[in-house]
Amino acid sequence: MTPMTQAGEAAPAATEGAVLPPLRIGGHVIGSPVVLAPMAGITNRAFRRLCREYGNEGRAIGGASGATSLYVSEMITSRALVERTPESMRLIEHDPDENPRSIQLYSVDPATARAAARMLVSEDRADHIDLNFGCPVPKVTRKGGGSALPWKKDLFKAIVGAVVEEGAKRDIPVTVKMRKGIDDDHLTFLDAGLTAEAEGVAAVALHGRTAAQAYSGTADWTAIRMLKETVTSIPVLGNGDVWSAEDALRMVRETGCDGVVVGRGCLGRPWLFTDLAAAFAGTSARVTPTLGEVADRLRTHTAYLCDFYGEEERACRDIRKHIAWYLKGFPAGSTIRNSLALVDSMAALDTLLATLDPDAPWPGEAAEGQRGRAGSSRTVALPDRWLESRELSEEHRRTIAEAELSVSGG
Ligand SMILES: Cc1cc2nc3c(=O)[nH]c(=O)nc-3n(C[C@H](O)[C@H](O)[C@H](O)COP(=O)(O)O)c2cc1C
Repeated sequence: MTPMTQAGEAAPAATEGAVLPPLRIGGHVIGSPVVLAPMAGITNRAFRRLCREYGNEGRAIGGASGATSLYVSEMITSRALVERTPESMRLIEHDPDENPRSIQLYSVDPATARAAARMLVSEDRADHIDLNFGCPVPKVTRKGGGSALPWKKDLFKAIVGAVVEEGAKRDIPVTVKMRKGIDDDHLTFLDAGLTAEAEGVAAVALHGRTAAQAYSGTADWTAIRMLKETVTSIPVLGNGDVWSAEDALRMVRETGCDGVVVGRGCLGRPWLFTDLAAAFAGTSARVTPTLGEVADRLRTHTAYLCDFYGEEERACRDIRKHIAWYLKGFPAGSTIRNSLALVDSMAALDTLLATLDPDAPWPGEAAEGQRGRAGSSRTVALPDRWLESRELSEEHRRTIAEAELSVSGG
C-alpha cells in the first residue's frame, strides 16, 4: 500500500519510547497493545486485512517491534460452527499472513462451547479464541445469552472453563470480552473478571457500558480501572469510545489498562491502526488522508470484499454501509453519497468515486469523533425471574438452550 498523508512530524517521526510494553496474550506478543474489536458484519477477513496493513504501516513509523495489533473476527456462534454451516466456515477463514489467527465465539452452553473450541484447536484453525459475553441485542438477552449470561455465575464459569481447557491442549489462549453487567443495579464485571482469571483466561476486555446502555451515553472508564485493580495476574483491556489515538493514550493513562480494544472508531477509518501503532510507540505522526486517498482505500476495501465473498455484487452490498463512515466530514453532497450507498458493481463504484475531489484535504474535527451505532438506553429483555438468583435453574437451562439459535451483533 502507498503510505497515506501524514500530519504531525514527518514520518518516521521522533520516537520518545513505547507507551506500554507489548501485550502478551498467552504466548502471543502483540507489539502494539491494540485489539480490533470483534464487530459482526464488519470485521471479516477483508476488513481485518485493511486494518492489518495500516497497523503494519504504523509499525514502520513507530519502529515498534514484533506483531502489530490483534485483529479479532466477527463473532461466530458455537452451535453454527459445530454444525459446520457454510457461513460459519467462511467466517473462520484467515488470510495466510494473519498471525495470530483470532476467532471470537459466542456460546450459551458449555458442551457446545467446548465442541466448537475443540474443533478450532484440533483442526488448527485458530491461534487465539475470544469469548463474547457482551452482546446486548434483545433477542439474545431475552433468552439469557450475551451480556445477560455472566449473571449466572455457574454457567459463565462452566463455559469459560471448558473453552480454556480445550485451548490449553495446544497452548491456544482464550480471552473474555464483557460489559459491566446487565444494568447499574446488576453489575457482573468484577466477579466475572475474577472467575475468568481463576479459570485460566489469558486476558479480559471490558466494554465500559451495561447492556441497558447498549451504545448510548459514554463508556465508563472508571469501571476499567476497577477491573484492572481487581484482576491482577493477566492483562486487562479497555474498550469503549476510543475514537482517536489520543483517546487510546488517555484511556491507558486514566485506567492503567494493558491495551485498548477499538471498535467503531475504525469504521471508515482503518488507518486509525497506523495512528494507534505510532502513538503507542511514542510518536506524534498521524494519518490525515485527502479525499482522493480515502476514495482509493474505499475501493481497496471493496476489492478485498470481492475476494472474501467471491462475488462482486455481495461485496458492493456490503461496502454500502461503510460509505457514510468513509466520507464523514468530507465535501461530498447527498447525491453522490446516496448513489454510493446503492452501488452494485466495481465499475459503478469507480465512476462514482471519480467524481469526488481528490485534493480535498482531511477535514479535521468534522471527520473525528463518534461514528457507528449510538442509540438510547433501555430496559434489558431477560427471561422471567432471571435476576432472582445468580445460579442457573432448570427452567432457565431450557430457555438458554434456545439463545444460540438466532443471534447477531455484540
Ligand atoms: C456493528 C457492531 C457489531 C458488533 N459486533 C460484536 C461482536 O460480534 N462481538 C462482540 O464482542 N462485540 C461486538 N460489538 C461491540 C464492539 O466489539 C465494542 O465492544 C463496542 O462497539 C464498544 O467499543 P467502541 O466504542 O470502540 O465501538 C459490535 C459493535 C458494533 C458497532
